[in-house]
Amino acid sequence: MSHNSIIAGLDIGTTRISQVIARVNDEGEIDIIGVGEEPCQGLRRGVIVDIDEVASAIATANKRATRMAGVNTRSVFVGVPVIRVSCAASHGMTATSGDDWRITALDVKQALDAASVLAVPPDREIISVLPQEYIVDGLGGIQDPEGMTGIRLEVNARVITGQVTILENMAESVERAGLSIEGRILEPVAVAQAILTDEQTHRGAMLVDIGGQITQVVAFYEGTPIQFLCVPVGGVHITNDIAIGMKIPFEEAERIKQRSASGGENDKDKDEFIQDIIDARLREIIELIESETREVRNTGLVPCGVFFAGAGSFAPGTLELASEILDLPAQIGKSHPISVPKGIEPRSLSQVALGITRHVAGDSRFLLARESQPSAFKRALFNLRGWFDEFLKDFF
Ligand SMILES: Nc1ncnc2c1ncn2[C@@H]1O[C@H](COP(=O)(O)OP(=O)(O)OP(=O)(O)O)[C@@H](O)[C@H]1O
Ligand SMILES: [Mg+2]
Repeated sequence: MSHNSIIAGLDIGTTRISQVIARVNDEGEIDIIGVGEEPCQGLRRGVIVDIDEVASAIATANKRATRMAGVNTRSVFVGVPVIRVSCAASHGMTATSGDDWRITALDVKQALDAASVLAVPPDREIISVLPQEYIVDGLGGIQDPEGMTGIRLEVNARVITGQVTILENMAESVERAGLSIEGRILEPVAVAQAILTDEQTHRGAMLVDIGGQITQVVAFYEGTPIQFLCVPVGGVHITNDIAIGMKIPFEEAERIKQRSASGGENDKDKDEFIQDIIDARLREIIELIESETREVRNTGLVPCGVFFAGAGSFAPGTLELASEILDLPAQIGKSHPISVPKGIEPRSLSQVALGITRHVAGDSRFLLARESQPSAFKRALFNLRGWFDEFLKDFF
């Protein structure tokens, strides 16, 4: 791994675009050095509907994050929502390349590359390849084969594909913002990296990300995702309900909702009325999840329970309703401790963007791909001159 690699994670959310820039050291430990955010109205239910609006918000978020970090990051790893996404099992194999038969990161990358060679219909595109287990000389169940000795390396993987139109609109928005996409990660898989431990994903856990207009779910067992789900309802719908129920503008309803998460209005009747509205929508979201995840829950595959993420999950009553309806222990997932720039509240960071940087830092494939293109890498990350030019332009 190269020294102090820079990784930028981009979360294209329904309510906000968030970028996080991380510096990774040789041990794979990360420090967040830049954060940028911008509200965005260019998505509907998680899908981009206004490319220019999204591009402009990405450019603003990027400018803020790169300024704070002091690096000119022009390539980003982007989160993809679980919308029209499919999953296929695949198998890859490679002969190890080292003289001493020690398996290198390059061998692992080659096995995964082999697993990603499969026929994909023309309207679909591969988003990412998630390894399930590695097999070294016929011995399976291996999670991290790097450094082991073997001649033949195989991998059983899940290949995640998405709809071309959705992915192309995403690429176009990023490009119009003057950036390029270096890799893609499913949003809930990224969030899981930010909040779940390896033990939890191995024993079995469910993660629910309540966003603005969508709620995404992933269930993990034995370290790999076993179910993905997206429900087209989120925090914005709760705010809308409050606005309609109380006959007030959306912005005021949003303020009231957020206040209710931290104690309410100090008017018992009003607080109860608001809580009833919130509960009705939360119940809808959680009941939808309940009916779709029955099999996974009833077969006891998620003993660690359900972890909530996404700012939508700050709505009061979420955990109570979840543990009642899903019949599982429920908690708000807390991001793993991480160093952030002064003045930044870790809770406010996008767990998607944060999780992307963790995911990439722990996956030598991405950094290997960079090392094979040193000039592009240097151009993309350390174009300080460009950064100063831009800075001066803004200044005058
Ligand atoms: N303190 C709070 N209490 C309740 N809800 C909150 C609070 N803060 C933010 N929200 C809600 O969180 C929602 C946005 O969540 P988040 O930022 O995770 O979404 P997003 O990533 O932009 O959207 P999506 O994931 O749907 O694409 C909004 O509906 C907002 O009202
Ligand atoms: Mg989100």
